[in-house]
Amino acid sequence: MKTRIGILTSGGDCPGLNAVLRGASLAAEKLGWEVLGFRDGFEGLLPPGDWIVLDRKCTENIMALGGTIIGTTNRGHFVSKVAGGDRTVVAEEVIEMARTVLKDARVEALIIVGGDGSMTTALQLQEAGINCVGVPKTIDNDLEATAMTFGFDSAVYAVMDALDRLHTTATSHKRAIVVEVMGRHAGWIALHGGLAGGADIILIPEIPFDFDKVAAAIRARDAAGNLSSLVVVAEGARPRDGQQIKRDMEHGEFRLGGIGDVVAHEIAVRTGKETRTCVLGHLQRGGPPTTLDRILGTRFGVKAVQLVNEGHFGSMVSYQSYKVRHVPIADAVNRLRLVPPNGEMVQTARDVEISFGD
Ligand code: F6P
Repeated sequence: MKTRIGILTSGGDCPGLNAVLRGASLAAEKLGWEVLGFRDGFEGLLPPGDWIVLDRKCTENIMALGGTIIGTTNRGHFVSKVAGGDRTVVAEEVIEMARTVLKDARVEALIIVGGDGSMTTALQLQEAGINCVGVPKTIDNDLEATAMTFGFDSAVYAVMDALDRLHTTATSHKRAIVVEVMGRHAGWIALHGGLAGGADIILIPEIPFDFDKVAAAIRARDAAGNLSSLVVVAEGARPRDGQQIKRDMEHGEFRLGGIGDVVAHEIAVRTGKETRTCVLGHLQRGGPPTTLDRILGTRFGVKAVQLVNEGHFGSMVSYQSYKVRHVPIADAVNRLRLVPPNGEMVQTARDVEISFGD
């Protein structure tokens, strides 16, 4: 009988997940193993078990697809997180059910592809004696334990593409257009996307801004003859004397969003310019992965199988100094990597006359 391992994708989807699935499936097949893909995140581990065999045929031609062919969710019975010291735990009976399903399916180890919350669940499963290996995933690129996550480059590409399109219409109408982008508490997508797409102003959570300074930057551009401006604002950005704008509470977590309209309104009031807002939303998460994300996803999937083969359970794949390595999941969870306000990227942006509204 073939050795069997399981894999699941958990949390928000992102481009590159299918490259991980394909990479893991092919690397496992080379070892003579069989891979079961559990559907809809950890929920597929609930009795009677919801899985498909991820073989060569099933993973053929999936690398160019966004999303995940086995589905995902950021809700359900396994939601667990460490936030500000409050650890939400998965109920013991739920873990027991998962253990039974894995045992009955003869799964010897489980590869968990997910973000910070999913890694916290992985840690709990590992502590309960289920062999786990983590693969980090988030378009936000905000995990301290890895220099890069797949999905980020595709999200940045979507922002750049949007800015390329918005430049022409903003110029034609001499408008200021505010583009709201994702990233939660980190400004990486806004910073990289804004830099690549030639934004004039970038507002990020790590550098609280001042509406008067934003307006002054736009007025200065007008005075110099640049009558249109593109402002990229991260969903988590906030004015110096204000708060992040939260939409609603879902499953114990706030959804961010709405700052774009506020910024556009304040610019209009202060400058008299015609302004528009464009919220990119989930366009940043969908669609085909970029070259970089396909390669990184494949490397992460292959590495995860290697880690299982070498018995490195409780560890997470990590990208450091251009190499794919691994770190203990326990050291990886609940450690956010934010944009250093005085770092090289921010300075580079300032040197090409991008204002941070500060
Ligand atoms: O963490 C990834 C992310 O896309 C964030 O940038 C964003 O705030 C959030 O997920 C949106 O989540 P949902 O798909 O649940 O609306």
